[in-house]
Amino acid sequence: MAKTKPFDENRDLYEQWFIRNDAVYKSELKAIEHFIPKQDKGIEIGIGSGLFAKPLGIKDGVDPSERMTELAKRRGLNVVNAIAEELPIPDSSYNFALMVTTICFVDNPVIAIREVNRILMTDGHFILAFVDKESIVGKEYLKMKEESIFYRDAVFFSTDELLSLLSETGFKDIEIVQTIFGSLEDVNKIQNFKTGYGKGSFVVISAKKDKI
Ligand SMILES: C[S@@+](CC[C@H](N)C(=O)[O-])C[C@H]1O[C@@H](n2cnc3c(N)ncnc32)[C@H](O)[C@@H]1O
Repeated sequence: MAKTKPFDENRDLYEQWFIRNDAVYKSELKAIEHFIPKQDKGIEIGIGSGLFAKPLGIKDGVDPSERMTELAKRRGLNVVNAIAEELPIPDSSYNFALMVTTICFVDNPVIAIREVNRILMTDGHFILAFVDKESIVGKEYLKMKEESIFYRDAVFFSTDELLSLLSETGFKDIEIVQTIFGSLEDVNKIQNFKTGYGKGSFVVISAKKDKI
């Protein structure tokens, strides 16, 4: 069953976290924006309330949480309530698909990434953003997982694990950037992202559709 309960029940807390942690939010946005093709048609899978899609100019999204997507709709986004593993979208519909801190919530990441591959056009891009479980923040999240409203049921991944999944599910030409250097409390101003991974806690992978 889709892990929507924490988001349905604590949507406002989720939103407030990003207001309180504005420098973290803007640093993450900046790193993701680096890979967003400007003119192309994109969709966010696990769009939530649209906190990332809206400023990135992405108009379409999918998410199973009715409460989160109610807010996304209020932000003017076109949203369908569905899970990543079963996208109600025809093959080859989009130039790019974004997924932000959602891969750790999907029940079946392999099927979800295969679905992303299916809805992308030839040479389309998948932009996958997440907290690396081997990073400073990833380790902090793992340590307090049981007490966390949002992350209790999450299954975190390392960048290497996701790179293997992407290669298994038909993606190639990988590019990676990272941001959020240090603990979350230490991020008081917007950080510049760097290429690669292993230092920043928030990692963004761009991968091109190959074939399954
Ligand atoms: C941490 S939130 C991220 C929301 C948004 N991407 C953002 O960054 O603000 C995780 C989202 O994943 C959604 N979710 C949970 N299970 C899912 C699934 N199987 N397929 C797609 N989205 C899912 C939740 O409803 C929630 O909105």
